[in-house]
Amino acid sequence: MSPTPHIAVLGSANMDLVAYVAEAPRRGETVTGREFRTAPGGKGANQAVAAARAGATVTLIGAVGTDAHGSTIRSGLEHSGVDTDLLRTVETPTGTAHIVVDDEGGNAIVVIPGANGTVTALGPGDEGLIASADALLLQLEVPLEGVIAAARAARRHGVRTVLTPAPAQPLPSELLAAIDLLLPNEHEAAALTGIADDPRAAAGALLSQVPEVVITLGSRGSLYAARGTEPITVPAQQVAAVDTTGAGDTFAGTLAVALAEGNSPPDALRWATSAAALAVQRPGASSSMPYRKEIDRAAGQPGAAS
Ligand code: ATP
Ligand code: RIB
Repeated sequence: MSPTPHIAVLGSANMDLVAYVAEAPRRGETVTGREFRTAPGGKGANQAVAAARAGATVTLIGAVGTDAHGSTIRSGLEHSGVDTDLLRTVETPTGTAHIVVDDEGGNAIVVIPGANGTVTALGPGDEGLIASADALLLQLEVPLEGVIAAARAARRHGVRTVLTPAPAQPLPSELLAAIDLLLPNEHEAAALTGIADDPRAAAGALLSQVPEVVITLGSRGSLYAARGTEPITVPAQQVAAVDTTGAGDTFAGTLAVALAEGNSPPDALRWATSAAALAVQRPGASSSMPYRKEIDRAAGQPGAAS
């Protein structure tokens, strides 16, 4: 295990266009919002930023356009310490996410993939980078072909794979066969298993397909399950959430770092929970993500009792 973990991420980079409103409009309704912000996001870029700020060496594999959003995203990633050498620039507009955040911090999101849709295969240098990593983080905002190619490359080189199956969609068996840790939220877990409102049962069903599962449960925390062991639940911290966008990505990136550093799953979950609690108290996705010092202050070292 490297003293400083090296995390590879293959995934999306979006510009988030965020409207803050008291209550999200229903179909056919128009509401007046309070504020509008643009901020770099996308599940791949967010997880990369979370892991880099948590102390890992991180490389993001993906694509942005030649437009201003693309260069803003690239410089934001670099500012957080993410290596963007394998983030390609293509002649397709940068992906955008159109987000409504309500007064309870909840959100609704429409994603326009744009350049993310070009990530259909590994490019030059991608497999070598994945082979040198301690873990590969994947999500589903780039085409499945690209995700499968990356997961298989990781499997060939014995690199641990973590898949956030979001946005939810059916997962082909060739992808699941190359995944070590599946990390859905409760809605994605229900969509994958048909089991709603029973995360333990959903995790049990998912364990027939992958060796380890973490289901995040929003303000109720998270659940870890592995084959042959009793599931463990970790409560969320009681905080006043202002914007939960990117909470799952903060959790994924920091969990991967703590696991790659050799911490036990319960300790890693508690550390990721502290990081996500810090993120939900600030607006934005990657802009809300905490740095290692803040996480350690809030949670103690990942290996320490909390
Ligand atoms: P998103 O898609 O908004 O990024 P998600 O749906 O993937 O998030 P969640 O299950 O909502 O992921 O949240 C991930 C983790 O973040 C939770 O397990 C919890 O630790 C933390 N979290 C989320 N919401 C809150 C909250 N309101 N208060 C405290 N912690 C929270
Ligand atoms: O997971 C949060 C992310 O989902 C946002 O940053 C947005 O870009 C959407 O892709």
